[in-house]
Amino acid sequence: MAGVLWLVFLSVVLPISRADDRPNFVFLVADDVGIGDIGCFGNDTIRTPNIDRIAANGAKLTQHLAAAAVCTPSRSAFLTGRLPVRFGMAGTDQPLAYVFLAAPSGLPRSEVTFPQMAKDHGYQTALIGKWHLGLNCKWVGDHCHHPNKFGFDYFYGIPGSNAPECDPDSVTAGATGKYAADRTYTRFRVWEVAVSVFLGLLALKYFQYIQWKTVIVLSVIGWSAVISNYAFWANGTQFNCVMMRDDDVIEQPYDVSTLTPRMTLEAVKFLEERKAKKEQFLLEVSYWNAHTALLPYKEFRGKSRHGLYGDTMEEMDWSIGVVMATLERLGLTNNTFVYFTSDNGAHMEIGDAGGSNGIYKGSKGQGGSEGGIRMPTVVQWPRKIKPGTIVTEATSQMDIFPTVADILKAPLPQDRVMDGRNILPLLGGAKQPSPHDFLFHYCGNILHAVRYRPRKGKVTWKAQFATYPWLPGTTHCSVDQLACFCGTQWGVTFNDPPLLYDITNDPTEDRPISADSNPKYQEVLNVITKAVKEHKQSLTKVDNQFTMPRFFPRPWLQPCCNFPYCNCREGVDLSPLKITVK
Ligand SMILES: *[C@@H]1O[C@H](CO)[C@@H](O)[C@H](O)[C@H]1NC(C)=O
Ligand SMILES: *[C@@H]1O[C@H](CO)[C@@H](O)[C@H](O)[C@H]1NC(C)=O
Repeated sequence: MAGVLWLVFLSVVLPISRADDRPNFVFLVADDVGIGDIGCFGNDTIRTPNIDRIAANGAKLTQHLAAAAVCTPSRSAFLTGRLPVRFGMAGTDQPLAYVFLAAPSGLPRSEVTFPQMAKDHGYQTALIGKWHLGLNCKWVGDHCHHPNKFGFDYFYGIPGSNAPECDPDSVTAGATGKYAADRTYTRFRVWEVAVSVFLGLLALKYFQYIQWKTVIVLSVIGWSAVISNYAFWANGTQFNCVMMRDDDVIEQPYDVSTLTPRMTLEAVKFLEERKAKKEQFLLEVSYWNAHTALLPYKEFRGKSRHGLYGDTMEEMDWSIGVVMATLERLGLTNNTFVYFTSDNGAHMEIGDAGGSNGIYKGSKGQGGSEGGIRMPTVVQWPRKIKPGTIVTEATSQMDIFPTVADILKAPLPQDRVMDGRNILPLLGGAKQPSPHDFLFHYCGNILHAVRYRPRKGKVTWKAQFATYPWLPGTTHCSVDQLACFCGTQWGVTFNDPPLLYDITNDPTEDRPISADSNPKYQEVLNVITKAVKEHKQSLTKVDNQFTMPRFFPRPWLQPCCNFPYCNCREGVDLSPLKITVK
């Protein structure tokens, strides 16, 4: 009898007390999408009704900042709530903070992610789409940096990134064709050098100058370099454009043009399964859109008013619409926390294929510029966030970790500095200043700007320590360079004292304020200088994941679905999606 009562108690009480109050989470992360590309942030020619609806039903964040202006560092900060300089993911002064699939760089295992925290609290977690935080360390199957090792129960997508070489024709738009041509050139040069060196070694052996052992060792080193170079530049389509399901390579090279529909199907399936099993979930859908190669699904091509870039944007918005409609159909909308953002600003250096950062200056890669880091961000959670909320105070993508922790009533890691802060009060409409007194804006591992929000008043200040070598009359660097880099040898000038802006009233950074004009401005600069000093003291020495030796691909770390061909197709029926686009 007691047993039966206990069972009744369990079945009645537990589902209510467990499942009821804690929300599900859906994170939608775009790639290289600028704040000027989204309808509710002022774009009137790209159609993003589904993203706009999230803002209307919830909150729009107008000063939401990425921790870095390139994908890999920015994504590592989003997941860990920490600045990438704290754990070696910031890069250097060059644009090397990029993970090649066969290189050993990646998110260090000592980092804790918020999906891991959710998983530890009983959530089912999935990453669908782009990861780009590393894959292997010592051998091709160790998967030391794989998403499954960082809290995702399920992974479907691309461990690397979409990139120009993932377009089989490599002629999508802008600079793409040109860079593809450069690659072919590099390949031939390296082949020629390697063959000559090999023949030279044989000659030396023939005349008894060296031992066979030396020939073999030098040849192995030489040919490894050739293969690595081949993977790196020449045949990147095959080697970098890899798609996986958990630990298996399922498509190589992947077809970019069907990726978003396939990811959408996976997301729907994941949500339906969680509903059927009554499991709480955290889902991240990490889009390749709108990173070059721009290859939207055929139904979306030629439908927007902004070429392939606009088509790609509208494809992503369609996919978000399907995810939102699925939540609604499953009755999950009210208690699901939905967050949409982009990893860094639009890539102005690639021209028409690059998107728009709206009124803000600068571009992808420029960690100190608003255009590089101010991200179009909307959040919906009907239970806690009132429709039409607008958060104008400075917030960061690193805030998501502590915010999720607060929602789950989970303690934050105590053994490390967390840079993120809980923004639930601001999302809930509280009239209060940003939880950040300071935000430190890095370009690579160099501090380029600092934001300062005094507790009193309404103004947020920004000190610019660095100025970029923009082409005259523009706010971007040259196309040949692909992006602005971070150090003096790339033409960046460092300002001492820094240029001071009132970023609240001068968001386009047109009017630097002279500290001489009023002692109060000198005081602002003094406070910032002191904060920088304290911040630098909080940094510890860590292994840089992007030193030259680590950066280059190793043939023995190259994932391959069927060696030596490395060529396979997944084959998915997309008809259940019934895609029709006007
Ligand atoms: C969602 O919340 C709204 C408003 O609070 C309520 O009217 C609606 O019935 C809820 N829907 C579900 C499925 O719980
Ligand atoms: C909308 O986005 C497109 C593509 O990025 C851009 O060319 C256009 O200028 C944007 N419109 C506005 C009003 O920002």
